[in-house]
Amino acid sequence: MLLWISLLILVSVDGQAPAAKKVVVIPSPPWTPVFKGEKVTLTCNGSHLLDPKQLWWFYEKGWQKSSNPLEVTKGGEYRCEMEYSSISDPVYLVFSNNVLILQTPYYVFEGDKLLLRCRERNDIKLTRISYFKDKKVFHYVSENSVLSIPDVNSDYSGLYYCKAKNKQHQYTSEEVKLQVQELFPPPKLKTTTSQPTEGTPVTLSCETQLPPQRSDTKLHFSFFRDDRVIVSDWKESQVLQIPAIWREDSGSYWCEAKAVTQNIQKQSNHMKISVKRIPVSGILLEIQPPKTQVIEGEKLVLTCSVAKGTGNITFCWHKNATKDCLRKKTQSSLKEELMFSTIKKSDEGSYQCAADNNISTIFSRTVVISVMIPVSHPLLTLSAVGMQAAVGEVLEFRCEVLEGSAPIFYQFYHKGLVVKTILALFGDVASFNLSVTTEHSGNYYCEANNSFSSQFSEMLELSISDPAERSLLIIGGTVASLSISGLAAVALLVYFKLKRKSGGSLVPELSRDQPITDPQESGHSKSIPPVEQQPIYDNVTPFVEDVVYSEVWDMNQGKINREDTSETPPEDKDDSVMYSEVKTYSPDDSTGKDRAMDKNHEDDIENYENVLTL
Ligand SMILES: *[C@@H]1O[C@H](CO)[C@@H](O)[C@H](O)[C@H]1NC(C)=O
Ligand SMILES: *[C@@H]1O[C@H](CO)[C@@H](O)[C@H](O)[C@H]1NC(C)=O
Ligand SMILES: *[C@@H]1O[C@H](CO)[C@@H](O)[C@H](O)[C@H]1NC(C)=O
Ligand SMILES: *[C@@H]1O[C@H](CO)[C@@H](O)[C@H](O)[C@H]1NC(C)=O
Ligand SMILES: *[C@@H]1O[C@H](CO)[C@@H](O)[C@H](O)[C@H]1NC(C)=O
Ligand SMILES: *[C@@H]1O[C@H](CO)[C@@H](O)[C@H](O)[C@H]1NC(C)=O
Repeated sequence: MLLWISLLILVSVDGQAPAAKKVVVIPSPPWTPVFKGEKVTLTCNGSHLLDPKQLWWFYEKGWQKSSNPLEVTKGGEYRCEMEYSSISDPVYLVFSNNVLILQTPYYVFEGDKLLLRCRERNDIKLTRISYFKDKKVFHYVSENSVLSIPDVNSDYSGLYYCKAKNKQHQYTSEEVKLQVQELFPPPKLKTTTSQPTEGTPVTLSCETQLPPQRSDTKLHFSFFRDDRVIVSDWKESQVLQIPAIWREDSGSYWCEAKAVTQNIQKQSNHMKISVKRIPVSGILLEIQPPKTQVIEGEKLVLTCSVAKGTGNITFCWHKNATKDCLRKKTQSSLKEELMFSTIKKSDEGSYQCAADNNISTIFSRTVVISVMIPVSHPLLTLSAVGMQAAVGEVLEFRCEVLEGSAPIFYQFYHKGLVVKTILALFGDVASFNLSVTTEHSGNYYCEANNSFSSQFSEMLELSISDPAERSLLIIGGTVASLSISGLAAVALLVYFKLKRKSGGSLVPELSRDQPITDPQESGHSKSIPPVEQQPIYDNVTPFVEDVVYSEVWDMNQGKINREDTSETPPEDKDDSVMYSEVKTYSPDDSTGKDRAMDKNHEDDIENYENVLTL
């Protein structure tokens, strides 16, 4: 989880010379004490930016303007000051009257190489030199030498003196208090905030201070979270910038500072940083294009977004209120899309999205998407064999589509004019029955329309024959169910069965037609032009049963106006209508469209047709 390390920007801040402005008094020779009569040169050293001409020395209890460097022969406290800088730390010079002195550096810092020198006033050669620390001998040399102790630490603080022989005499130096100072204190980890919000930058700084005497010491820094290093290498900068912090980055932070040459390493305090996550809020589900009814094949994009929320957000799409996600994606973005490049019928349903950033979950509104299917090319069929029908025959007009969302408007056209409009609420088919007259011949087509798409069928040509022009003796041929091969059989099997048809009149036949056909369109309601000796045919359920009936008007009765038939016919008229069953034979039952409708009766052996006797 330290991926963000690569994003770290290491800012170079001049953190290594926080005391740069503090001037330092540098004595030369760098030993203390010195013998009385010797000279010590003091240099006030500071930043090159400071004007060395504006320099003051403090000694003998007062400030005086003196040269730099300054040569001195008197003991006491010395300080210097330059303009715009703080006063230096004091340097105490000691001029000794003793024969033997133990010289040490003015300042000793941990990691330093400590040089101790046991020295006789006239630099006479010393022998049997013993070095004491806290009254115990810790080093012995037989001849003059400088004792060098590398890499001292605070354990080397203490009271030092030396003993040595000068010719016959044995001398002991005065005790010198030696304090090994910290090169730098343990760093303090500081941060802009210990409770940052996710996604915000955080700056950490590892703060420590070098003494003015060691201001040019190289320090390097390293940052840690819990027990893992954040930046793998030591960096020169004491500042670490995290451009965006995440909840997973919460933890205990600390840093280390290291003096490179001295190899002194110090750890800072631990600091708890807890990153706050902002809960997700303001969820919005949008549709593009903004409509919930789409046509199959169109593109539809659902966009789920949240106004607020930090961290990785998991977007889950629910369809039809199912618990499982239709699709799930976790990302740091506040937005997620569900795209249908070509929407299908199966994509129909209700959609909702949920956003979750692991501390809160919110749900969007639900949108119901319906996918409309355009109507396919409709097929028009007429229940007339070979598109031939006789006057009075009831034909079924049927317009159907294979595909198309309901409801569908069907319109039937005759010679380019709408003759019938049917709204099929659920269906893929619309049909109506019509008892045809000669006026119904001509071309037909139909249109299917489901408010966003419309299609026309092929055109069919219907011809209506007028049986008045035919021989009245052969009538059976008008029945659609008769196949040509069956005609011969019919001729042989025709016999008359004197049987009155139930209901016996034309009235029931007409009343069945009336609710189906529009009064304006129906041939029945139109007054038929007066034609002499017009026969009337009325086929009764011609497509369902093999027993078909035909009513034939006796020429001798004269002209009949069809409108009269809506009333109860006179008795004499009734008597003139006779029925007979005509046996039909059709070896190929399934060839005709109409025959296909009477599968239930395929086992029937005898088919009859009623024929009027003269
Ligand atoms: C004075 O300080 C500068 C850096 O501030 C350093 O380079 C130089 O050696 C110092 N002079 C002496 C005499 O220590
Ligand atoms: C967010 O998720 C991605 C991929 O799942 C992952 O790589 C990344 O670390 C996550 N970021 C956070 C802040 O959880
Ligand atoms: C979802 O519901 C719609 C009706 O709202 C239904 O047509 C569809 O088949 C359903 N889809 C699934 C996957 O359950
Ligand atoms: C959600 O938080 C739990 C613990 O708070 C953590 O274990 C899990 O990995 C987190 N899941 C995601 C997706 O960030
Ligand atoms: C038309 O007539 C046929 C046969 O009598 C029947 O099956 C069908 O239901 C009728 N159609 C309509 C729309 O009334
Ligand atoms: C479909 O039919 C309805 C009703 O007749 C009509 O208002 C609409 O304009 C038609 N649409 C098309 C595309 O033909």
